[in-house]
Amino acid sequence: MSWLQAHTSPERQILILEEAGSTNEEALRLAREGAAHGAAVVAKRQTRGRGRQGRVWESLEGNLHLSIIVRPVDVQPERLPQLSFVAALACRDALDEAGVPAVQFKWPNDLLLKGRKFGGILLEGASDVVIIGIGLNVADYPAETMFPATALKLEGFEVELDALLHLILPRFDRRYDAWHAKGFEPVREDWLEHAARKGEKVSVRLPEKAIEGTFVDMDDTGALIVHNSEGTHTLLAGDVMFKKG
Ligand code: BTN
Repeated sequence: MSWLQAHTSPERQILILEEAGSTNEEALRLAREGAAHGAAVVAKRQTRGRGRQGRVWESLEGNLHLSIIVRPVDVQPERLPQLSFVAALACRDALDEAGVPAVQFKWPNDLLLKGRKFGGILLEGASDVVIIGIGLNVADYPAETMFPATALKLEGFEVELDALLHLILPRFDRRYDAWHAKGFEPVREDWLEHAARKGEKVSVRLPEKAIEGTFVDMDDTGALIVHNSEGTHTLLAGDVMFKKG
């Protein structure tokens, strides 16, 4: 285990591990030990990679497993979930720069290429720290997945892990600073511009039921807005499934 200085910023601490249970878990541990805002953890392999809704994130070698430590100052706690959209935009910026165009989003935290999921974001936190966990299928994707999946390499994009890391980190800083200074509205607008299936029929799986309707918007808190014959639904959590056709 070693602390390295990244060439993106002389001050940034990056912990690079061969293997971790979960980089989010490592990042939380480092944050408790006092690691600074912007410090990051990357692991080649994760043995207990965590996904949204308590799911497992299967972490294949060759994929990116990254966690960034954020120490928000003067931010109301209810705004913190917005950071997953900030991180999604930073990944899109980085991938665009790396020659991977047309990355789209699926609410709340998925990154898609041609409608297939290749990345996800998991926010975890304590009172004064948020861990932004980013998993990108760079080389491959697991055999069993809940959503149709893909990986950059399988879509014809060869991206070096190290290069991707050093593209994401400064772009995350930039997006974070803009969000901190200007609020959520520009983030919301950018995210919606690249959201897949906006204006189309989706099905949103909730713990007790599914809601089918048209994905019309994301509101100023980050909730998904779906319309159907019963009215307008404001959804705070759930899994969006795309309908065929
Ligand atoms: C999702 O379910 O879509 C979110 C997946 C997030 C996975 C990443 S990999 C790096 C970080 N460490 C974890 O244990 N999870 C996140």
